[in-house]
Amino acid sequence: MGLLLPVLLALLACLFGGLYFLGVFRQRRPGEPPLDKGWIPWLGHVLEFRKDTLKFLQKMRQKHGDVFTIQLGGHYITFLQDPFSFGAFVKERRDKLNFIDFAEQLVKRVFGYHPISSDHSILEATSQKHLKGYGLQVMTESMMRNLQNLMLHNLGSAANQKTWTEDGLFNYCYNIVFRAGYLALYGNATSETEGDKEKAINKDRAESDILFKEFRKYDQLFPNLAYNVLPPSGRREASRLMDFFQTKMSLEKIGDKNNVSGWIWDMITAKREEDMSESMIERYMFVLLWASQGNTGPSSFWLLLYLMKDPVALEALRKEVDKVLKESGQEVRPGGPPVDLTYEMLMKTPALDSAVEETLRLVAAPLLTRSVLQDMTLNMADGRQFFIRKGDRMAVFPYIAVHIDPEIHPDPHTFKYDRFLTPEGTRKTDFYKGGKRVKYYTMPWGSGVSMCPGRFFATNELKQFIFLMLVYFDFELINPDEEIPRIDYRRWGFGTMQPDREVKFRYRLRY
Ligand code: HEM
Repeated sequence: MGLLLPVLLALLACLFGGLYFLGVFRQRRPGEPPLDKGWIPWLGHVLEFRKDTLKFLQKMRQKHGDVFTIQLGGHYITFLQDPFSFGAFVKERRDKLNFIDFAEQLVKRVFGYHPISSDHSILEATSQKHLKGYGLQVMTESMMRNLQNLMLHNLGSAANQKTWTEDGLFNYCYNIVFRAGYLALYGNATSETEGDKEKAINKDRAESDILFKEFRKYDQLFPNLAYNVLPPSGRREASRLMDFFQTKMSLEKIGDKNNVSGWIWDMITAKREEDMSESMIERYMFVLLWASQGNTGPSSFWLLLYLMKDPVALEALRKEVDKVLKESGQEVRPGGPPVDLTYEMLMKTPALDSAVEETLRLVAAPLLTRSVLQDMTLNMADGRQFFIRKGDRMAVFPYIAVHIDPEIHPDPHTFKYDRFLTPEGTRKTDFYKGGKRVKYYTMPWGSGVSMCPGRFFATNELKQFIFLMLVYFDFELINPDEEIPRIDYRRWGFGTMQPDREVKFRYRLRY
C-alpha cells in the first residue's frame, strides 16, 4: 500500500503530462485569436488540412474570421487571412517571427541537410550578386543557350518537323524548363571531357534528361516526405534518389563542367570556407536544385495551357513576340540560325509579363510559415490586436486571402492574360478591396525575409521558354474541348501547383 500511492501519483503525472503534451488542456486566453483544436489530440485538423488545404482553410475562415489558431500535428498555427494586415507578418522582426527555424527543420527532414548559422546570409549575398542586375543577365543568357540546345537542336532537319509531334504537355514543358534551368545553374559538359563540342552538347541533353526523370520521382514523393508520412518503401526510394543526385551532382562532377553559374560556385566556395563537409555541400546542391527547378517547369505548363484555351490571349502574345523579334532584325526561317533572344528583347514584352503574373496568381500557392520566438502582439490594420504565444507558428496563405479574392481580382478563376496590364500597356499594380488599395495583391514568391531570391530569373526562364514556343512552333490541344485539369490537392502550400492529370497536345514548326 505504501508503494501504491507514489506509483499511482507517478502514473497520473505521466498521464497529465501526456495529455498536456497532446495539447488537450490548451484553452483560448483573453486577447488570443479563436482556437480550433480539432477532435484528434495532438494531430488536430491535420488530416482535413492535408486532404484539401484550400477547402479546409476556407471553412475555418468562414467559421472564425480572418485570424484563427488551429492545431496541426502537434503545432499551434495562427493563420492570418486579412491582406491589409500582411505587413505585420512579413515585416515583423526576425527575433519574433522567424523563417529560418521553420525552414531548417524542413530541409533536415526532407533533404538530410544540416544547416549552419551562416546559410541564409550566404544565400542572400550570392543571390544579390547573381540573381539580380548584371549577374541575372549572365544567367539569363546562359538559360537561352541551353534552351536553344534543347528546343532547337534539330532545326537543320526542319522539313521533317513540319509534321506534328504529340506529347503530354506537362511532361514536355517541365522537361525542357527543368533541364535548361539545371544546365544554366550547374554548368555544361566540356569538349575536353567528351571529345568535341558536338559530343558535349549531346551529353548535356542526355544527362539532363536522366536527371529530370529521377527528379520527377522525388517530386512525387515530396508532399508525403514533407509531412513525414512516407511508408518505409517510399523512404527507401527517397534515400536512393538522394544518393543518385549526390553522385550525379558531386562537387567533383560540377568541378569538371563549363559555365557553372556564379550563384552555385559562390555558394560552394562559401560553404567550404565554413568547413562544411563535401558530402553535406552536395546535399545542399540538391536542396538548391529542388528550390530552383520544382516550380518553374509546372508554371510554364499552366501558362501554355491557358494560352491554348484562350485564342485571343495566344494571338496577342504572338503579335507581341513577333514584333519584338522583327525589331531585333532576326527572323525564324528553315535552316536559319537559332533566334538569339537577348536580355533587352525580354524586357520589351509587357503582355507576356502580365500573362506570367496571371498564371502565377492562379497556380502558385505557397504557405508562408514562421516560428514564433517570443510572446507577441499581432497588430491588425483595422486596429484589432491579437496575442500570439511563443512556441506557436504563424502562417499566411495568400492564395485564398488575395489570389482568388473576387473583390481584388474579379472573376478570379478565369485566366485573363491582360489582368496585370494598364490600358496604356504598362504593368498594372493598383488593385482594391472595399475601396482600399491592396499592397500585397499577389504573393507567388512569398514575401519579406524569405521571399524567393530566384523570382527574376524564374520570370525570365518562363518568358524565354514561352517566347521560343510562340515564335517557332504551332501548338494545339489534341482535344480542343479539353477541360483545364484540377489541381493535385496534395501539393497545396509548396509553391506552384501541379495538375492531377496529363494533357495531350501536339506541336510543329511554324515555318
Ligand atoms: C515559378 C517559379 C518559382 C516560384 C513560384 C518560387 C516560389 C518560391 C517561394 C514561395 C519561396 C518561399 C518563400 C517563403 O517561404 O516565404 C521560394 C524560396 C526559394 N526559392 Fe523560389 N520560386 C521559383 C523559382 C525559383 C528559382 C528559379 C530559384 C533559383 C534560381 C529559386 C530559389 C529559391 C530559394 C533558394 C528559396 C529559399 C529562400 C530562403 O531560404 O530564404 N526559386 N521560392
